[in-house]
Amino acid sequence: MRGQRAGHPVFAAFYDFLTAGAERGPLAPLRRNLVDGLHGSVLDVGAGTGANFPFLAVRSLAQPSLTVYAAEPDPHMLRRARRRAARLGLPVTFLPSSAEALPLGDACMDAVLLTLVLCTVSAPAVALAEVRRVLRPGGTLRFLEHVRVEGSAGRWQQRLARPWAAMAGGCRLDRPTGDTLRQAGFASIDWTDVPAPFPVLRVIAGSARKVG
Ligand SMILES: C[S@@+](CC[C@H](N)C(=O)[O-])C[C@H]1O[C@@H](n2cnc3c(N)ncnc32)[C@H](O)[C@@H]1O
Repeated sequence: MRGQRAGHPVFAAFYDFLTAGAERGPLAPLRRNLVDGLHGSVLDVGAGTGANFPFLAVRSLAQPSLTVYAAEPDPHMLRRARRRAARLGLPVTFLPSSAEALPLGDACMDAVLLTLVLCTVSAPAVALAEVRRVLRPGGTLRFLEHVRVEGSAGRWQQRLARPWAAMAGGCRLDRPTGDTLRQAGFASIDWTDVPAPFPVLRVIAGSARKVG
């Protein structure tokens, strides 16, 4: 596997171009919902080029106490995220870190965002344990993730998983991320299914709460 320190310079360079249509279309309202009602300290894990930042910037107008942190291990993504935050005038504390080892204390975040990230992290269950650790009790996880589907379409996702990952910065089409989220020890987990074009096919957008 390619080292996270080296990152994916080509994928990072084309990411915004490749996702522009979806970002202007179906992803915009999903991202807007995701940040709705957030307050206090918010950590965007695997922030990429900062696709959530415009929505966090709007939210911070209504909620000036919002304090944004962004963890991103790929230096090419991180550079673009820094530029986007500067363009938006959004203060962000950047952490050049993996989801599996967040350099943050326990129970310090009011909310964590995971958007299109659990498909790519090396160890989703470890990443979710870290998310739980840094959330304060009662804190919320908001997620927007694609998940593998059943049946013949799911078998196509499995066949395509390796070439897709090679082109898409390590993104796996065939992860049962809904199950992983359910097994991660959160309470009140709930999501909406959103259909997506082949080969992604199914996106889940929802939230969960840390108890205790
Ligand atoms: C498909 S992009 C999504 C970026 C952004 N969250 C979004 O919604 O557009 C996946 C991101 O996860 C990052 N990533 C990969 N492995 C990671 C890990 N172990 N921990 C945190 N982020 C990771 C990648 O560098 C990339 O920026």
